[in-house]
Amino acid sequence: MGRWDHTRQLLRIGRPAETGGDAPVEPFDDWSRGPDRGPRSMRCRSICIASGKGGTGKSSITASLADLFRHKGRALLLDADLGCANAHIFHDVHPDHSFADVIAGDREVHEIVTACAPDLDLLPGGSGVGRLAGLQEYELEMIGRGLTRVEPLYAYLLVDSAAGLSRQTVAFAAACDQTLLVTTPDVTAMTDAYAFLKVFTRQCEALGERRALPLLVVNRAANADEASQVGARLQEVTRKFLDRRLEVLGWLPEDRAVFRSTQQRQSVVAGEPDSPVAQALELVATKLEERLQGEDGAGMGARLEAMSTRERTPRRA
Ligand SMILES: Nc1ncnc2c1ncn2[C@@H]1O[C@H](COP(=O)(O)OP(=O)(O)OP(=O)(O)O)[C@@H](O)[C@H]1O
Ligand SMILES: [Mg+2]
Repeated sequence: MGRWDHTRQLLRIGRPAETGGDAPVEPFDDWSRGPDRGPRSMRCRSICIASGKGGTGKSSITASLADLFRHKGRALLLDADLGCANAHIFHDVHPDHSFADVIAGDREVHEIVTACAPDLDLLPGGSGVGRLAGLQEYELEMIGRGLTRVEPLYAYLLVDSAAGLSRQTVAFAAACDQTLLVTTPDVTAMTDAYAFLKVFTRQCEALGERRALPLLVVNRAANADEASQVGARLQEVTRKFLDRRLEVLGWLPEDRAVFRSTQQRQSVVAGEPDSPVAQALELVATKLEERLQGEDGAGMGARLEAMSTRERTPRRA
């Protein structure tokens, strides 16, 4: 049995659909004017890659998903690890500007868009600016407003999240159409993954929204059994304490190819496409795309802007 078939069998999912390759993406209409799409609907689908604990593999996974999704449609990668950004490293670019300039009032969001690869652009997060990790609501609102301008130009928006449970981090996830929650088999990472689910659910409910739970991805698993045990344990606590059903999207093996590719400043799907982890990432991307198909995005920028406006508007007694 080939490695590809073997991986697919371990994940118990079907053969990936043929993709359209590098077909050019047509520029989109102004989404706010679409007569039958409604005012809060657009073709750009947003996906946040999050985790409670740091170092679970969010940036590595996002870099690979960006390289896979850009072949499905024009993609934008948003580095939401503001202040400790490193998404640019995986694509070997050296951005001149970042969200630090946007927050300083020197640049608009569309002015920091940095080309990474064919059909892939980056919104750089900025490094070494501690204040970016704790933005004010009006600053998040400003980012949201700027995003509404660039989003319609893309088919996919991938958000590389910061670790942790800060309001800002969870707000980025809650503003996206879909969130991937990354955990490793470490008990500390699993505990923090559950904490993320809890805070995410509460924050969405506080905004009056019952959103779909994030989809779980188990990274750095030794084998399929270990990954399925991790998934089952998190599903159990989520059912018991949140009364919600957690879906496991897939798992990725522990694979030194991730490290080697990062050292070469590229994603593992670009650097070592035949490695077990790259092939498992392809399956995760395929499943994710299936989940997003047939649904328009709600507009991450518009959601972020609306959420932040609501938060800073005093509520009536
Ligand atoms: N499947 C894997 N196999 C082996 N090593 C991996 C795997 N996934 C990630 N790593 C390694 O784990 C480390 C952390 O990865 P990464 O920076 O992507 O995590 P992160 O969640 O973005 O971290 P942070 O929370 O600091 O942003 C890196 O050294 C990376 O090479
Ligand atoms: Mg990271």
